Amino acid sequence: MGILDVQVIKDFVKTCNDGWERNWHERNGGNLTYRMKKEEVEECKKYFTFDKEWVEMGVCAENMAGEFFISTGSGKYFRNVILAPQDNICIVEINDKGDSYRIVWGLEKGGVPTSEFPSHFMNHSVRAKATNGEYRVIYHAHTPSIIALTYVLPLEDKVFTRMLWQSATECVVVFPGGVGVVDWMVPGKSEIAMATSELMKKYDVAIWAHHGMFCSGPDFDSTFGLMHTIENAAAIYIRVLSTGKPILQTITDDDIRAIGKGFGLNINEEFLEN
Ligand code: 13P
Ligand code: ZN
Repeated sequence: MGILDVQVIKDFVKTCNDGWERNWHERNGGNLTYRMKKEEVEECKKYFTFDKEWVEMGVCAENMAGEFFISTGSGKYFRNVILAPQDNICIVEINDKGDSYRIVWGLEKGGVPTSEFPSHFMNHSVRAKATNGEYRVIYHAHTPSIIALTYVLPLEDKVFTRMLWQSATECVVVFPGGVGVVDWMVPGKSEIAMATSELMKKYDVAIWAHHGMFCSGPDFDSTFGLMHTIENAAAIYIRVLSTGKPILQTITDDDIRAIGKGFGLNINEEFLEN
């Protein structure tokens, strides 16, 4: 029994591999982080070392002080996570100010957590606050269909949300709050981290123009499922457009309201019209 046999590590590795198999992670594209439960930290602690330097993140979140995160490594390929988790992922501890991390396990051949760690960290902070600590996963993927649509649709929350809700009946059930859209920005910096975390105050999802998507959730399955639902809906919309035929019928706002009623959903009314 080693750390790679601990369930949460196995689930993290499986999620990385599922994303690789969906073709969302060319080269080192995309990243995944998970805020560990106390009992998971306890289970893994005997494999930790506390001799690495603290590294400042350029962002700060007091409610994340003392937390432990599992993270993919920067420049590491999702393809390789399942082959050698210890070389491609790591666990980091956050200091008591909530502004620095240190690696306590993993990346055995060297490396640092994902370059998007500031974005993940700020998203964890706001999603944990918004959900009373329930949300633990932030997942960034280079989902081709959503990326493609950021070239041809206005970069507005309402436009993307309505396009997705209308493209597959289950969408509004999976994300009744809608999605947010971030204009193109330089990745890996605190500016994009702050812009994304502003949207994450309202949504479980942020789309990065010409880059990909960030999804959040309480566990790996629901976060991955959210990404998958959105990407499939975007692919359907592109197929509809590529027929070149006019749209004769769609899921109407009244249909969406009816789904809301049927499923007892709290649908974001901002995105519906009369
Ligand atoms: P990392 O390899 O640093 O995780 O970066 C990949 C990526 O998708 C940047 O947005
Ligand atoms: Zn990326």
